[in-house]
Amino acid sequence: MKRPENQIIVIFGASGDLTKRMLIQAFYNLYVQNLLPDKFAIIGVGRSSYSDEKFRDLMADAIKNFGKDTSPEQITNFVNNLHFYSIDSADPVAYSGLLINLNSLRENLGISGNTIFYLSTPPVLYNVIPKNLAACGLNIEEDGWKRLIIEKPFGYDYESAVKLNESLCGVWREDQIYRIDHYLGKETVQNILVTRFSNGIFEPLWNRNYVHHVEITAAEDLGVENRGGYYEGAGALRDMVQNHLLQLTGLIAMEPPSSMDSNSLRNETMKVFQSLRPIRDVHNEAIRGQYLTSTIRGKKVLGYREENGVNPESKTETYAALKFYIDNWRWGGVPFYCRTGKRLPTRVSEAVIHFRPTPHYLFAQKDNCDSCNQLVLRIQPDEGILLKFGMKTPGAGFEVQNVNMDFHYSDLSHQKIPTSYERLLIDCMQGDSTLFARADAVMSAWKFLAPVLDEWKNNNDIPVFGYPAGTWGPEKADNLIEGAGLTWRYPCKNLTDDGIYCEL
Ligand code: BG6
Repeated sequence: MKRPENQIIVIFGASGDLTKRMLIQAFYNLYVQNLLPDKFAIIGVGRSSYSDEKFRDLMADAIKNFGKDTSPEQITNFVNNLHFYSIDSADPVAYSGLLINLNSLRENLGISGNTIFYLSTPPVLYNVIPKNLAACGLNIEEDGWKRLIIEKPFGYDYESAVKLNESLCGVWREDQIYRIDHYLGKETVQNILVTRFSNGIFEPLWNRNYVHHVEITAAEDLGVENRGGYYEGAGALRDMVQNHLLQLTGLIAMEPPSSMDSNSLRNETMKVFQSLRPIRDVHNEAIRGQYLTSTIRGKKVLGYREENGVNPESKTETYAALKFYIDNWRWGGVPFYCRTGKRLPTRVSEAVIHFRPTPHYLFAQKDNCDSCNQLVLRIQPDEGILLKFGMKTPGAGFEVQNVNMDFHYSDLSHQKIPTSYERLLIDCMQGDSTLFARADAVMSAWKFLAPVLDEWKNNNDIPVFGYPAGTWGPEKADNLIEGAGLTWRYPCKNLTDDGIYCEL
C-alpha cells in the first residue's frame, strides 16, 4: 500500500480516553506496519499542562497497556513523533499560539501544510473548534490540504444535527469533513460489500422475490460502565441505531455502486436512507427496554437506574428494536428488523438475510422452514459468514435437516485484521472518505428516527420494558417479527452455535 503524504495530525482532547485507548494504538499499529508517512508528527492538544516528554510517557504506557505484540524499541521510536500543546480549545485567542507552534514544527520537520484536525472532544466543542481553526486560517489549503475528523454524536436529533452541520459547513467544505462511524471501519462490515458485489451467486437473490426478511443485531454484554452521564442523554437509539445500525442497513440494502469511489458508494447509501418508510406505529414497531438488576453466573449486576450518573427514575432505553421497510423496487414489502442493547447475554453483531422458503414442501421438514435458508454476516466476534440450508438426513425416506456452511476470518491466519481506527485513520490520511458518513446521510438517519424519538419522549403511554440484565431484552420485542413461529436469532459468541440460549 502507498504510504500517505507527509502530514501533521492534531488531536483535540488528547488527554481523553479515546486517544489513549484507540487513536494512539491505531497510529502505533500503522507505524509498525510502515504505513505512516515518511515525515509526520502528532500534536496532542488539551487543557492538561503536559510537556512533550510527559505526553510521550503517557502514550507509551497506553500502548503497552492496551496494545498487543508491542516492542519497547518501536514504542520509543514512535512516541518521539508526539508533541503536546496545552490550550483551552474553546478560547479563540489561544489558536494563534497553536498556529505558531504548528508552523515551527512544520519548518523543523520539513512538512508542508497538510494537516488533519481530529476532534476527540465533548460534542459541545464541535461548534467551537472548527470555527476557531478557520478564524486563524487553519482551514485554508494554499500550503497543503486540511481535513477535519469528527466523532459521533453528530447532533442530538434532526434539528441539532442540521444546526451543527450548518455551523461546520459555514467554515469547512463537506469534502474536508470526515465523520467517523467506527462500524464502517470494521473489516467485516466492508466485507458485506465484497460478499454482495464480488460474487455472482448472491446478488440475484438479494431482493424482495427471494428475501423474506432481514435481521440486524448489535448486542453487548456490558452495561453502560463509566459512561452513564453521556448515555443517560443518549439511549440506545441515538447511540447505536442512528449511526451504526442504519449504516449497516445502507450497505446491505444498497444498489451496486457504479464504482468504489467515495461519492458513488455514499450516493447509494443515501438512496437507501431516502427510501426508508417513516415508522408511524411507534407503539408496535419500535420497542424500548431498560436492563434491570440481576444475577449473572452467580454475580450480581446493577440495573441501569443504579449505575453511576444515571437518574434513578430514568426512562432512557438501553435496548431498542425496530421494524421498518425500505420503499423501493428491490425491497418493497420486506421487513427489516434491527435491535441493539446493553447487558444482553453476549457481545455479538451480525446481519442475517432470511430467504423465502420453497413454494412447495416436498419433504418432511423437522423445523418450521419459513426461514431455513439464512445467510449470516457475522461482524463480531468469530468474524465470518454462515450459510444455513436443508440437507437430507441420512437413512431411509427423505427427511430434511438444517446444516451450516461456515467461513471464519480466523482461518486466514496469515492476515491480521486491522482495527476500525487503523483503517479509518489511514483512509483519512490518504484523503479517501468512502468509509465516512456524509452529511446528507446523517441528516436522513436523524429524520427517519425523529418520529420514534418524539413519541418516546412525549408519549407516556409507550412503555419502557424492563429486562433482567443478561437476557435478550423485552419479550415484547419478540412480537415484532412477523410470521408464525419466527423469532430473532439467538446468536452465540461462536458463529455456528445457535438455537441455544447461550451465555446465561
Ligand atoms: C459506540 C457506542 O459507538 O459503539 C457504545 O457509543 C458501544 O455505547 C460501541 O458500546 C459498540 O462498538 P463495538 O465496536 O464494540 O460494537
